[in-house]
Amino acid sequence: MNIAETLTPLLRILPAEAAHSLTIAGLKTGLGLPKIDPAQWGTGTHLPKSGLVFPNAIGLAAGFDKNAEVCRAMSRLGFGFLECGTVTPRAQPGNPKPRLFRAPQQRAIINRLGFNNKGADIALSNIAAQKAHLTCPVGINIGANKTSPDFISDYEYGLSAAAGLADYITVNVSSPNTPGLRDLQYQDALIDLLNRCETAWRESASPTPVFLKLSPDLTDEDVDLLIDVLRTHGQWLCGLIISNTTIARPDYLPATLQTEPGGLSGQPLLAASTALLRTLRTALGDCFDLIGCGGVASGADAYAKIKAGAHAVQLYTALTYQGPGAIAAINRQLRDCLAADGYKSVSDAVAADV
Ligand SMILES: Cc1cc2nc3c(=O)[nH]c(=O)nc-3n(C[C@H](O)[C@H](O)[C@H](O)COP(=O)(O)O)c2cc1C
Repeated sequence: MNIAETLTPLLRILPAEAAHSLTIAGLKTGLGLPKIDPAQWGTGTHLPKSGLVFPNAIGLAAGFDKNAEVCRAMSRLGFGFLECGTVTPRAQPGNPKPRLFRAPQQRAIINRLGFNNKGADIALSNIAAQKAHLTCPVGINIGANKTSPDFISDYEYGLSAAAGLADYITVNVSSPNTPGLRDLQYQDALIDLLNRCETAWRESASPTPVFLKLSPDLTDEDVDLLIDVLRTHGQWLCGLIISNTTIARPDYLPATLQTEPGGLSGQPLLAASTALLRTLRTALGDCFDLIGCGGVASGADAYAKIKAGAHAVQLYTALTYQGPGAIAAINRQLRDCLAADGYKSVSDAVAADV
């Protein structure tokens, strides 16, 4: 057991955000970290549209390393890819505390952090400083400042600034914690967003694969409209990340958390996020690379998302409950799931259930 794994149970004694800050501070030192080869489990994956190659299919979801301060440490823990951010053009403090809540029985978290970050330029220079030491690709997730008069211009800024520095860029229009942000997923606003992002992407010095991160709370009607719009953007948009957190509150959450505003992640999100992934893979075929996210806590969860159409998956909440040992465990379990069904690689199993 390495030091990061030893400390995980101790961190649970602290309030959630204090535990996270302490984790980032510890990871920044790099002390006591293992150096795991992310290719050792043989669960590598290739994303055909974007050309990305991940040494394993288990990635770190956005929100853990908002300022890209610990990419090097996270790659040493064995992730197959990392997503830093969300970053906004200008630094902002986020929402008042407390804004992060655990539901340990349900293996869930509610957060309403509100894009607290030091600004895109700092995160990007942190990526530049660590990139040569990383053993896996790194993406940057971009968002809009809460007080921005024009949210879309903030995405244009992020796309230009991150081009060529990150291995991929995620346009995050699905956080529930910035009022109005999720409206960019709907008809006219979505068309405007994608058209302006396409222009910014085409004008950037070194066009980088772009993904769009979606909410699991879209209605069937929203999804139908989204699919129509996405079909017209296959020339430049590489993929979708499905999904962000949900504003739904299942009955089985503790009463104290039922009324806490914010995004719910972890086990309660697994089914809905996988269902949306399957719907989009079914409708869009091979037009886009899909990354599954939401409630992945085992190899079986990851495998279910792959068979529903994902080329790779991301996780965050399981890391906080299981510690960094989850990365190896999930990769090994995934390898066993693939072998049990006679698949030689992740790619062979993508969309097997669709
Ligand atoms: C504390 C916390 C902060 C998050 N911050 C972000 C963020 O800044 N940007 C983003 O796109 N997603 C963010 N997310 C959502 C995750 O990236 C992911 O989509 C979601 O948690 C579902 O995955 P999980 O169930 O494995 O946690 C955050 C999640 C958590 C728990």
